[in-house]
Amino acid sequence: MHKGDSMARKKHIETRRLILRPWEESDAESLYEYASNPAVGPVAGWPPHKSVEESRDIIRNVLNGPEAYALCLKADGRAIGAIELKQNGHSDLAERDDECELGYWLGQPFWGQGLMPEAAQELLRHAFEDCGMAKVWCGYYDGNDKSRRVQEKCGFVYQWTIRDVDVPLMHEKRTGHVSCLTKEAWLAAARGDPVAHGAVLPDGKSAEE
Ligand SMILES: CC(C)(COP(=O)(O)OP(=O)(O)OC[C@H]1O[C@@H](n2cnc3c(N)ncnc32)[C@H](O)[C@@H]1OP(=O)(O)O)[C@@H](O)C(=O)NCCC(=O)NCCS
Repeated sequence: MHKGDSMARKKHIETRRLILRPWEESDAESLYEYASNPAVGPVAGWPPHKSVEESRDIIRNVLNGPEAYALCLKADGRAIGAIELKQNGHSDLAERDDECELGYWLGQPFWGQGLMPEAAQELLRHAFEDCGMAKVWCGYYDGNDKSRRVQEKCGFVYQWTIRDVDVPLMHEKRTGHVSCLTKEAWLAAARGDPVAHGAVLPDGKSAEE
């Protein structure tokens, strides 16, 4: 993503079942309902929200990036999760302005319906086609098989494993696995080219493990 006002943000991104749209302060109660669940944030590296007021502050100050979206069911418009492309300068993985990092979470009642792969695939299209990205990075902490599966389903390819990576909001260190998807691989997958379907290791472990 290019910095500043060249960002290609769309107000709404639509998929079959979802609308991705900017967060609004009126989403605070819905955000608190799902982000206060200890099964959601800690595996992604952040503590559960403790109050609706904290959720409102997080909407104002954290979920306000140019490519941060509330993930909403078309059926009722409520925000049930979050998805974001974090640009260079706001990501530990992206090192150039044509690279970014994908991050996401979904409220637990909605797990297992393929909603996050559906959202991520459309946001990846947006990243490559509208925002001029050449590469999108993604990661997950060791043991987060649910997130590993999302990355596999979206065509991300395992790159490396980092030990003792700082998880500042949780005040701990973890092992992190890093994957990426290049525009070339994304285009090849869209063409049905089997070469594009690579190489995330099936058990999510690095070759050295
Ligand atoms: C990771 C996450 C976004 C997946 O979203 P999703 O829409 O449920 O994704 P999918 O439906 O494709 O399911 C992915 C995997 O989750 C697992 N899963 C599905 N439903 C589940 C449930 N109810 N309970 C536990 N695991 C479940 C399955 O292993 C599934 O893989 P499969 O399709 O091969 O069976 C969601 O689990 C989540 O928000 N987790 C907590 C936060 C998090 O980990 N964020 C990512 C940080 S890197």
